[in-house]
Amino acid sequence: MLIRDANYIGSFPKFTSLPTPNLPEYCFWGRSNVGKSSIINLICDRKDLALTSGTPGKTINFNFFNIDSTFIIVDLPGYGYARVSKKMRYSWDEEIQKYFMKREALVSVFILVDISIPIQDSDMERINMLGESSIPFVILYTKSDKCKKLELTKNITNYESKLSEQWEDLPLRILTSAEKRIGKKEILEYMEKYLNSIQSN
Ligand code: GTP
Ligand code: MG
Repeated sequence: MLIRDANYIGSFPKFTSLPTPNLPEYCFWGRSNVGKSSIINLICDRKDLALTSGTPGKTINFNFFNIDSTFIIVDLPGYGYARVSKKMRYSWDEEIQKYFMKREALVSVFILVDISIPIQDSDMERINMLGESSIPFVILYTKSDKCKKLELTKNITNYESKLSEQWEDLPLRILTSAEKRIGKKEILEYMEKYLNSIQSN
């Protein structure tokens, strides 16, 4: 699958303010600065569709993008950004929880973890939450260009053994780098599988 046309729909502050669901939705979630917006730009082949920044906390609100009038990509605000007030973090966690639990158009969550650094508890907590809530999700390992091969292998092994302590079946994991343009094909293949299955029904 190739994305031909990607358009920004809008930015929505609350679950209740989201547009009426009319197409399947895929969302991108992960710690602030992990590279969510950069991965969206990579798969859409656009430089600035989703706004990126070196400063964490760039994406606030639910940002919706229409992809080829076929599906929706949702860029979510990151978690774990210390400079956001506790109250704001809490309300965002709540809004995202509502989205995960109630949004009937949601097909799958892409949860991004920075694979150039050791495993983070905040990521494991979210991954376990998704698994326990039976929400379909894929793990994207980001920023793989930032570390040497040996360290990359070590970090991946650590993640997977930690995941295996909790889960018998591991979700799909995709190694990515927005910088080196790695992982685009695999992400699009995964998205396409579901779209094909609903079209053939
Ligand atoms: P928030 O919206 O703040 O939660 O961040 P985000 O997860 O959307 O991250 P964003 O895509 O804005 O990227 C954050 C920073 O990481 C930017 O400076 C990017 O250039 C950088 N970055 C993103 N992906 C990669 C990557 O694959 N490799 C490297 N080296 N840097 C990356
Ligand atoms: Mg962002």
